[in-house]
Amino acid sequence: MTPTLTTARLRLTPFRPGDAELLNRWAADPVLCHYGDDCPADPETIEQTRAYVEKVIAGADDSIRRWAVRRITDDRLIGYCMAAFIDRHNRRCKAGLTIGDQESWGLGYGREVLDALVRHCFEDLGLNRIGAEIFAFNERSIRLFEGAGFRREGTVRQSVLKDGRYRDEHLYGLLREEWNGAPPCVDSKSNT
Ligand SMILES: CC(C)(COP(=O)(O)OP(=O)(O)OC[C@H]1O[C@@H](n2cnc3c(N)ncnc32)[C@H](O)[C@@H]1OP(=O)(O)O)[C@@H](O)C(=O)NCCC(=O)NCCS
Repeated sequence: MTPTLTTARLRLTPFRPGDAELLNRWAADPVLCHYGDDCPADPETIEQTRAYVEKVIAGADDSIRRWAVRRITDDRLIGYCMAAFIDRHNRRCKAGLTIGDQESWGLGYGREVLDALVRHCFEDLGLNRIGAEIFAFNERSIRLFEGAGFRREGTVRQSVLKDGRYRDEHLYGLLREEWNGAPPCVDSKSNT
């Protein structure tokens, strides 16, 4: 079961059926698609997104944990994040996050989410390594992950085709032994 994580201004919760509408809009947003996978030629239908959210809520897959990111003040959904490819033998995973609400960019929410995610991976899941893959042109995300202590470990050259140009992708990693400890989660209800 995905536990709720609470930070100073945010609550990372399991998804709810009502999240599908915003997620569906974000899936077709050209700016978000630019920083993630490109928008598919046929945008996801609301029924497909609802089915996806239902599947996530059912939570059958133990190798991935996904959270909806909500502002505490008004419970508004502003993004989502995940620990994916959780490998309990090698104690590693890959982290990803999106602040879908672009008006909320640059306010420190990304950092708050990443800190909570990292803490959960190391302290609750007992992992040793968190990886991340970041497009070389995604300066904001690079600042975010490097600020949280992730180190660049390599570059996959010409990994993605964006606007008719092949672009590189950086591989990042953070080891438990390098982690200085994020600001504490407030009232973290973490069941592993
Ligand atoms: C990347 C993303 C999660 C960052 O979220 P955010 O809430 O804007 O992040 P923060 O406000 O916490 O800022 C994170 C860092 O980016 C820096 N930053 C802000 N604006 C920036 C800009 N225009 N260029 C470069 N860095 C910038 C901030 O200063 C901060 O760095 P600092 O901690 O050294 O000051 C968000 O922009 C997003 O969802 N982008 C689209 C999806 C995406 O790229 N996901 C990551 C895929 S790996």
